[in-house]
Amino acid sequence: MRKVLKGLRAVFDGYSLREGVDVALEYGKIVEVGENLKGDEYIILEGEVLYPSFVDAHTHLIYAGDRVFELNMRLSGASYLDILKAGGGIYHTVKATVEASDEELLNLTLQRIKKLQGMGVGVVEIKTGYGLEYGQEIRLLKLINEVSLRTDAVVVPTLLFHVPPKDRDVFKYLEEFFLRYDEYAHLLRFVDVFADEGAYGPEETETILSFYTQRGVQCRLHADEFKPFASRLAAKYGCVSADHLIHTDGVGAEALARAKVVATLCPVTGFFLREGFAPYDLLKKRGVRIALASDHNPGTAPFLNPFLTILLAVFGYGMTPQEAFSAHTSAAADSLQLPNVGRVEPGVRGLLFTMNMTPEELIYRGEVNPKVELLRL
Ligand code: NIG
Ligand code: FE
Repeated sequence: MRKVLKGLRAVFDGYSLREGVDVALEYGKIVEVGENLKGDEYIILEGEVLYPSFVDAHTHLIYAGDRVFELNMRLSGASYLDILKAGGGIYHTVKATVEASDEELLNLTLQRIKKLQGMGVGVVEIKTGYGLEYGQEIRLLKLINEVSLRTDAVVVPTLLFHVPPKDRDVFKYLEEFFLRYDEYAHLLRFVDVFADEGAYGPEETETILSFYTQRGVQCRLHADEFKPFASRLAAKYGCVSADHLIHTDGVGAEALARAKVVATLCPVTGFFLREGFAPYDLLKKRGVRIALASDHNPGTAPFLNPFLTILLAVFGYGMTPQEAFSAHTSAAADSLQLPNVGRVEPGVRGLLFTMNMTPEELIYRGEVNPKVELLRL
């Protein structure tokens, strides 16, 4: 059964806007994009602009509680790292998450996914990281896998080494993950490390990266969010993505370009922390592939809205609206190594949405709540 989407004002194909084309699908897959396509059934979407669903390639969606109380602390001068080092920040969320039941965590995460879907997101990477004990981290990994069964969004599970435990030797903590790797290897798609001051240092990060890459696990890194050292490690270990990069310099950008590491930028985080924006021009000039993500988490990026991410990317980095949409769709799919989402081309899954605006019109109007129609084909 071949369905053809017709009457579209334009199609954003994951890279740029195309006019005058129809899109044909068979069994939920795009099979053709072109002029005057024929089919068994026609779906008329008069005047609408068709988009591939957003891909959110970096989230910490599974947690309990919030950190509203930190907002005024930070705005009165306390830094994110001061709060973290004093045992607050991530450690606060760990406590709330460990105390929450499985069912609570599942519901909270599914509610967040519902919200994301209402704003056009179809694929979401979810990291562990608020467990901070072997058993708790594996519980979160299992729950992320359970979430994936209870939603029609595509869920990508990542094991995150977030911060070292406060009261234990960090290498002892890591050893348990290394020794028991076979027990949980099937539950994860990626491993990630928050490699920064106040979190994992260079030596610890290398220990983690070398263990997992030797076993063929693809890794991603939280890099250069506060202090710059991790982008070089992302390149050295062939990570698929280096994320944040607020403080990346020329050497780091060069290394990422050479190793073909995708830069997954999270503009909400730098904005929310008032840390500034990653050096987009520098990364672009060196030829780094650039993706966008929400980094949704209760401490540094509690927003969920992909349109806000795009708006900040345009005015914070100087991306064009179409570059920003491309970064949140096709490039984000590359960040997750998923060639069959994030674009409108033959062979790709039909995860699509429509709205009545082009990327330029949306940004020009500062529209962050457009009416979005999800297409499930
Ligand atoms: O991406 N940087 C590490 N993780 C999050 C912050 C998590 C938190 O503060 O709870 C981030 O910014
Ligand atoms: Fe993060």
